Amino acid sequence: MRAMVYRGPGRVRIEEKDIPKIEHPNDAIVRVTCAAICGSDLHLYHGMMPDLRVGHTFGHEFVGVVHEVGSSVENLKPGDRVIVPFNICCGSCFFCARGLYGNCHNVNPNATAVGGIYGYSHTCGGYDGGQAEYVRVPFADVGPTIIPEWMEEEDAVMLTDACPTGYFGAQLGEIREGDVVAVFGAGPVGLFAAKSAWLMGAGRVIVVDHIDYRLEFARRFAHAETVNFTQVNDIVQWMKETTEFLGADVCIEAVGAEADGAFFQHVTSAKLKLQGGSPVALNWCIDSVRKGGNVGVVGAFGPLFSAVKFGDAMNKGLTIRANQCPVKRQWPRLFEHVKNGVLKPSEVVTHRIPLDEIAEGYHLMSNKLDGCIKPLIIPTSTH
Ligand SMILES: NC(=O)c1ccc[n+]([C@@H]2O[C@H](COP(=O)([O-])OP(=O)(O)OC[C@H]3O[C@@H](n4cnc5c(N)ncnc54)[C@H](O)[C@@H]3O)[C@@H](O)[C@H]2O)c1
Ligand SMILES: [Zn+2]
Ligand SMILES: [Zn+2]
Repeated sequence: MRAMVYRGPGRVRIEEKDIPKIEHPNDAIVRVTCAAICGSDLHLYHGMMPDLRVGHTFGHEFVGVVHEVGSSVENLKPGDRVIVPFNICCGSCFFCARGLYGNCHNVNPNATAVGGIYGYSHTCGGYDGGQAEYVRVPFADVGPTIIPEWMEEEDAVMLTDACPTGYFGAQLGEIREGDVVAVFGAGPVGLFAAKSAWLMGAGRVIVVDHIDYRLEFARRFAHAETVNFTQVNDIVQWMKETTEFLGADVCIEAVGAEADGAFFQHVTSAKLKLQGGSPVALNWCIDSVRKGGNVGVVGAFGPLFSAVKFGDAMNKGLTIRANQCPVKRQWPRLFEHVKNGVLKPSEVVTHRIPLDEIAEGYHLMSNKLDGCIKPLIIPTSTH
C-alpha cells in the first residue's frame, strides 16, 4: 500500500508499505477513504516530539471502510463506513471508565503521561497512522463508530479531532452566560473553539492570531472579533483595554508548542529544544484572563517543562484545565449539532490533496500558504 512516511524534520514522502495485519483479536484493518493533516502533525513534521522515528506514518484524523476484523470484534464488520477517534483507548481501564479516553492506561507502554494516538511517534505508542491506504485500528469495538447515513464524509473526518477538540477547549473554559472568551490561535482547533463558545453562552468571542487570512476566516466562520497580535503594541494590554481593565473571563489556548510572538521562547523551544514547547500563547492566556478566570488548554506541548508563568496563575487564582480531547465522549452531542445544522465541520476544509502529493500538503499547512486552514488527504486508489 501507499503510505506517508517521516524521513526527518521537514521531510515526508510516500513509500510502499505492507498492508497492516490483524495483530490482536480486537483489531480491525480500515481502508482509509479520507484523512487530514492536523496542526499537531506539524509539531512532528518540525521534529518537536521526542522518539519520532524515521519510517513512521502520521495521521490521526481519518475515516474509512472496514476491510478486515479480528475474531473478537462484535460491533464492526467488513464494509462498514467508520469514523475513528484520534485517541486509541481500551474502554475498560480506570481512565476509560471515567470517560478520559485520551488518558487510557493500556495502550501506550512507553509513557505514563500520554495515552495512545495514531501516527504520533513512539512517545504516543508507536502506532502507524491513517495518512495511508490502510491502517490498523486496535480495540476496534471501543473507538470507532459507524458513520450515520446522514453524515457526510468530510464532516466525519473533522469529527475525529479538530471539531471535538475545539469544542472541548471551550468546555475546559467552563464558559458562563455572557462571558468574554478569548481564543488564542485561529487554526481549525481555535476556530471550532470560538464557534463552540457561542453555543455555551459567551457574550463576546475574540480570536487572536497573526495570520490575517485566518483572522478573516474567524470573523466569517465563527462570527468572532479578531486581533492580529503583531499589529497591536502589546496583546495583553489590548485585551485589558477591551475588557474594562479586568481581563477576559475565559481564555482558550489553541496554539501549542510552536507559538510565535517571543523570540527567546521560540529559540529555546523550536531550535534548542530546551523547553517542551514555547508557552507564549499560554502565558498570554494567563496574563489576559481576569483574576479568578478560567484557562482551557488544548494546544499540545511535549513532555519537557516549559517556562509557564505559574506564579501569576497562582496569585490570580486561575483555574487552568488541559487535556488531550476525549473524542468519543464528545460525539453524541456533536453528532446532534451536525445533524441539526448547528455545526458544519467541513466548512474549515480548504484543500483536498491526493495521498501521493502529501508532501505538498505538509508544505502548505506548515507555511500557511494559499489560504490553508485544513487540508484533507485522499488516497486516490480507493476512490
Ligand atoms: N488537545 C488535543 O486533543 C489536541 C487535538 C488537536 C490539536 N491539538 C493542538 O492544538 C493546537 C492547534 O492545532 P491546529 O490544528 O488548529 O493548528 P494550526 O497550526 O493550524 O493553528 C495554530 C495557529 O496558532 C497561531 N499562533 C502562533 N503563535 C500564536 C500566538 N502566540 N498567539 C495566537 N496564535 C498564535 C498560528 O498562526 C496558527 O494559525 C496544536 O498545538 C495542536 O497540536 C490538540
Ligand atoms: Zn490532531
Ligand atoms: Zn483504557
